[in-house]
Amino acid sequence: MNPESQPELPLPVSSPSSRYFVKSFGCQMNVHDAERMGDLLDAAGHTAVDSPDNADIVVLNTCHIREKATEKMFSDIGRLTKRARGRTPPMIVAAGCVAQAEGAEIVRRSPEVGVVVGPLAYHRLPALVARAMAGGPALVDTEMPAEPKFASLPARRQRGASAFLTIQEGCDKFCSFCVVPYTRGPELSRPAAALVAEAEALVAAGAVEIILIGQNVNAWGAEGMHFADLLKAIGAVPGLKRLRYTTSHPRDMNEALIRAHAEIEVLMPYLHLPVQSGSSRILKAMNRAHTRASYLETLRQLREVRPDIAVSGDFIVGFPGETEADFAETLSIVAEVGYAQAYCFKYSPRPGTPAAGMDGQVPEPEKEARLARLLAALGETSLAFNTTTIGRRTTLLIERAGRKPGQLVGKTPWLQSAFIDQPANPDSIINTGELVDIEITHAFANSVAARVLRPGTVAAAA
Ligand code: 5AD
Ligand code: SF4
Repeated sequence: MNPESQPELPLPVSSPSSRYFVKSFGCQMNVHDAERMGDLLDAAGHTAVDSPDNADIVVLNTCHIREKATEKMFSDIGRLTKRARGRTPPMIVAAGCVAQAEGAEIVRRSPEVGVVVGPLAYHRLPALVARAMAGGPALVDTEMPAEPKFASLPARRQRGASAFLTIQEGCDKFCSFCVVPYTRGPELSRPAAALVAEAEALVAAGAVEIILIGQNVNAWGAEGMHFADLLKAIGAVPGLKRLRYTTSHPRDMNEALIRAHAEIEVLMPYLHLPVQSGSSRILKAMNRAHTRASYLETLRQLREVRPDIAVSGDFIVGFPGETEADFAETLSIVAEVGYAQAYCFKYSPRPGTPAAGMDGQVPEPEKEARLARLLAALGETSLAFNTTTIGRRTTLLIERAGRKPGQLVGKTPWLQSAFIDQPANPDSIINTGELVDIEITHAFANSVAARVLRPGTVAAAA
């Protein structure tokens, strides 16, 4: 289908209402897109259910970043169809980055799929679903349309105390290993006024934390404003208690943004700044446009203005041509930075990316071995970081009940998962979404334990 030939597809208000289930894979952007697809289907009269087994429509919001993710989508489609046994199998919608990259190939491999919709076209999901449910051939919409997706989305339903806000999409960086520039298109920033208005609406609806998201969030720029200006504008929204952003590129960490970490009170002391490798030689082959030294210098400046900042990173092991000496540099940058958290990946060759055709592909067992060594090194630095926070009095944003009875789990400003015990006094019951004053008491590699303080203690101590 050519979606440009039918830009006025109506919202199918008169179509039969169906039960739907959305499953999301991959990054936070996908988690958020999945929520927005839910909002769209709700607005079109469909109803969310909590299992694919009860659903008439199953949306798989896929991830293409590594090979396994693509294969996972096809095995999920097979499983969903088989599981239906006697009843009519659900109509499957393939959405997200695999949909964008594979397009009509998905329908050829899996005829159960009724709709294929890319990440830049999902505002047209209700219309596509209505037409597919009316019968006829599968519909494929992987256009990167000129009409603004965000302007076509319905009012969002705020869920809980923490809210994602997409400020930017796409990537122009073309790291040599990455498919994102091909699946999510070029960098596109949303206008500041719309973002501030959305942030105000989120806070009015109960959000105390906003997480600005984008493939290259710190590359945001619009109407002469830079990302640091946007942080200031959103940080000034009355009632907002916590502001975060992810994911950043080292190349876009400018002076104003570094200063913002000292100046904006609600900006949390945490930065996710992927490095990928500690070897400047490999960084060059990755087309990262930063070196080991420039990355370390950025962090030095950041720590000068915000000494307690927690740094997190992404790493790839076994990039083509990575020698033991290169990998040793990755281990040494881990120790030098002292990462609080990290996400580590074995290099996965992606079709159409320059790195997939490079010489010196590293054998799988070697990648495995390096990954294990890297994880061990990062386990040590995260425990060391968590240990430095013992004794700190701070706030905890409660997310959910813990595994043990009476236990609650939340996030500290440094994005640590922290456990507390529900107070014994029934008058002091703590609920999900509350900001609670705590003192960190114990440190582990992936979490900390804390005790609850009398309300007002932390503000009074500040
Ligand atoms: N192989 C392995 N890891 C990858 N990433 C991106 N592309 C690949 C790939 N081809 C990782 C990078 C990026 C994170 C989102 O995924 O570390 O920062
Ligand atoms: Fe991929 Fe690099 Fe863009 Fe990140 S900056 S999305 S790793 S191309």
